[in-house]
Amino acid sequence: ARIRHYKWEVKYEYRSPDCYKKLVITINGRTPGPTIFAQQNDTVIVEVKNNLLTENTAIHWHGIRQIGTPWFDGTEGVTQCPVLPGDTFVYKFVVDRPGTYLYHAHYGMQREAGLYGSIRVALPDGQSEPFAYDYDRSIILNDWYHKSTYEQAAGLSSTDFQWVGEPQSLLIHGKGRLNCSTANSPLKADVCNNTNPECSLYSMTVVPGKTYRLRIGSLTALSALSFQIEGHNMTVVEADGHYVEPFVVKNLFIYSGETYSVLVKTDKDPSRNYWATTNVVSRNSTTPPGLAIFNYYPNHPRRSPPTFPPPGPLWNDVDSRFNQSLAIKARKGHIHSPPATSDRVIVLLNTQNEVNGTRRWSVNDVSFNLPHTPYLIALKENLLHTFSQTPPPEGYDFANYNISIEQEDNNGTTSDAIYRLQFDSTVDIILQNANSMVAEVSETHPWHLHGHDFWVLGYGRGKFDRINDPKKYNLVDPIMKNTVPVHPYGWTALRFKADNPGVWAFHCHIESHFFMGMRVTFEEGIERVGKLPSSIMGCGETKHFREP
Ligand code: C2O
Ligand code: CU
Repeated sequence: ARIRHYKWEVKYEYRSPDCYKKLVITINGRTPGPTIFAQQNDTVIVEVKNNLLTENTAIHWHGIRQIGTPWFDGTEGVTQCPVLPGDTFVYKFVVDRPGTYLYHAHYGMQREAGLYGSIRVALPDGQSEPFAYDYDRSIILNDWYHKSTYEQAAGLSSTDFQWVGEPQSLLIHGKGRLNCSTANSPLKADVCNNTNPECSLYSMTVVPGKTYRLRIGSLTALSALSFQIEGHNMTVVEADGHYVEPFVVKNLFIYSGETYSVLVKTDKDPSRNYWATTNVVSRNSTTPPGLAIFNYYPNHPRRSPPTFPPPGPLWNDVDSRFNQSLAIKARKGHIHSPPATSDRVIVLLNTQNEVNGTRRWSVNDVSFNLPHTPYLIALKENLLHTFSQTPPPEGYDFANYNISIEQEDNNGTTSDAIYRLQFDSTVDIILQNANSMVAEVSETHPWHLHGHDFWVLGYGRGKFDRINDPKKYNLVDPIMKNTVPVHPYGWTALRFKADNPGVWAFHCHIESHFFMGMRVTFEEGIERVGKLPSSIMGCGETKHFREP
């Protein structure tokens, strides 16, 4: 195994990813940031210099389990103090599984300012994947807002609640093209300029007659997406670093925090280019589709395809999204069987609440607040007074709560309490969706677990039945993932082993929902965590532990 050493400078720069000029966060001048390339069991070292001038940061390595290094998970408030402006923080961790992963800022709503990228972990030399391809490419999909994350965060947390609204555009690998002249109010050329070469569409050049492995990750702030390549089928072979029993799609549904590998054959008419598009699903969005060019060599990479971009699926076609979720199974010959039973079941009802005049997202009517001292340090150094010791609820009022309607009483509370799990125990999580505070609206929430992969035991519609639904769990070939959607008015059941000593976030990956409290925290095996590096300290009550 090798060491992969990266030196990153993180700073704000003016950029026009969709032709609209705004401040974005770059890594070494780029957004998306550089791709981390490594092989299984390599050690990755990233020296992050925070040059954001007036803003803290922290970077999370999404999908990397951090076995033995829980302090380098990069989750501000949970595993470390924020990295102050001018400081350099060194992350060092082992990438122990091959696959497609992501990284992104994990401080406030900073991710959507552009601090993100992908991690590609290859198999060791001499080993091969259970599928064949000629070329390997990565792209990241996201959505894009023109307001700063500060404006958004302030609006979300004020009593005069300001929702962030729908994003202005969708980006494919950091590029989009807003139409500056038909935007709601025409934009001045110094703010939005369609002839700026910076916002020419992303073009992926492919050689005809080959098979491409396309690694697709989504880091949207809000949107659930459908991705397609005009006229081409895609065979899904990997999800969140695990091999999938192959299945074919025309549209790939992908939620924030998920990654997929698909195989695409370049076997269409090679005399032209094709569209690659993203469309918002699950919300009745005003955001125009994302566009990129699937460029058959030797056609010019900027040449527009001779066709209109294909339309996406209907935004409210929940069935198709459920069906894709159900189609994802572990690949034969690569099945890791889950334990047959669990030791504990935690039900998380996804609720929207009113707390002290502010709008919040919650589970079981409790919205999460970060304490002053990061949990990993507080628990390891026995500073239990730094957060609430009243355990959070493990369920809701099953008998009386109607998930299909708005509640008469939307009042909720906030808490910084965490779930403490027995080390090495098996835990089931039931994500239960419900109606939000708006009539006839139930949103899609992609939940992401740090430090683990979980088995996806099942998805269902309506209210989870604690007697009968577990009998239908897939214990034969469930896929393992780190991010999974809970569909509108539905439920999703997960199982994981609490076998990774540390403190781990579990949250909705929608940036505004996360910011509004849609998150919980798990601790397991804190007594097995090694000596904490002093670099993660410096805030709250940890100051005393920082060595010179
Ligand atoms: Cu990709 Cu805690 O997030
Ligand atoms: Cu959410």
